[in-house]
Amino acid sequence: MKYNIKAMSGPELKEVIESNFKAPVPELIKEADQIRRSIYGDRVFLRGLIEVSNVCRSNCYYCGIRHGNSHVDRYRLTKEEILACCEQGFQLGFRTFVLQGGEDPYLDDKRLVDIISSVREKYPACAITLSFGEKPKESYQRLFEAGANRYLLRHETASDDHYRRLHPDNLSLDHRKKCLYTLKEIGYQVGAGFMVDSPFQTVGNLAEDLLFLKELEPHMVGIGPFIPQKDTPLGKEKAGTLSHTITMLALTRLLLPEALLPSTTALGSIDPHGRERGLQAGANVVMPNLSPIEARSKYSLYDHKVSSGAEAAEGLENLIAQIRMAGYQADFSRGDHIAS
Ligand code: 5AD
Repeated sequence: MKYNIKAMSGPELKEVIESNFKAPVPELIKEADQIRRSIYGDRVFLRGLIEVSNVCRSNCYYCGIRHGNSHVDRYRLTKEEILACCEQGFQLGFRTFVLQGGEDPYLDDKRLVDIISSVREKYPACAITLSFGEKPKESYQRLFEAGANRYLLRHETASDDHYRRLHPDNLSLDHRKKCLYTLKEIGYQVGAGFMVDSPFQTVGNLAEDLLFLKELEPHMVGIGPFIPQKDTPLGKEKAGTLSHTITMLALTRLLLPEALLPSTTALGSIDPHGRERGLQAGANVVMPNLSPIEARSKYSLYDHKVSSGAEAAEGLENLIAQIRMAGYQADFSRGDHIAS
C-alpha cells in the first residue's frame, strides 16, 4: 500500500493533501477505489432523501436556509406527505429513508417521534436515517427508541478557529462533537462530514478533519464542495472544486475503509460528472431526492442545486445507468455499515 493514511500525523496529512491539491495523483484515487471494492464490492447503495422542513433556528453563515435569510419560502411537510414520499420510495425499491430538515422548533420530540414511529410501523424492514441537527441527549434517545437507526450530523470543520468563522457565537465545535459522540453511544450509525474549500479553510484544517474522523470512527462521512448561496454572508465566496473534493473523498476512504461515503448532491451540482467521479474516488452511496417537486427548489442550501434528472427519484433509471457506466452496480438493500 502506498498511502498509510491511518498512521500519518497532522503535518504528514497536510503534505499529502497539499501535493494532491497541486497535482492530483491518480494512484491515490485508484487505491481508494480498490479498497472500497475490497470491502463493499462494486455496490452503490441508494437512499431516498426526504427534505422534511426548511425552517431553521440556526444562522450558519454559509447555509441558504439559515434563519436570517428572509428570501427563503419556508415549508414543512405534513406527516401524511412524508409517508406518501416513503410509499413512493418504497415502491421504487428504496429500503433506506433519510429524513432531513433544518433545526425546526416546530418539529419537537413529540412530533418527530410520531413521524418516525409511523414510518417504522409501515416499513419494519427499512432503515430510517435522521438529519435534524443538534439536540439534547434525551431527544436523540427518544428518536432512536421510536425507530430511527442512523443520524447524519456533519461536524463541518474540526478546527475551532475555522468553526467560529463559519458559525455564529451560539454554536461551538465542542458541542457539535459532543452530539456526535452521544449519538454513537446511543447506538445510532453516525455520519460526520465537512465541506471542501469552505471559506477561510486551510489545508491544515482539512488535515484536522481527517484526524477527527480517525478519532470518531463514524459509520458514514458526508463530504461535498462548499457552494455559495447568494443571500448568505458568504454568498460571494468561491465554490469548491471537484478535484479537491475527490481528493478528500479518496483520503477518507483510505482512512476509514468500511465507511459509507455518499457522492453528494453538491458534487453533482458543481460538475455534470461530479457524481460519477465521486464514486470512482471511493464513494459508495447516492441519495436521490424523494421530496415533492415543489419543495425541492425551496430546500436550497446553496445556489444551482441539482434536483431533477439523475438526482431525483423520477430519474432512477437514468441514475442506475450512470452508476453502471461509472463501473458500479446500484444496490437497493438497506446497506448498513459492514460492522453494524
Ligand atoms: N455549500 C455546500 N454545502 C452546504 N451545506 C450547507 N450549506 C452549504 C453550502 N453553501 C451542507 C452542510 C450541512 C449539510 C446539510 O449541507 O455541510 O451539514
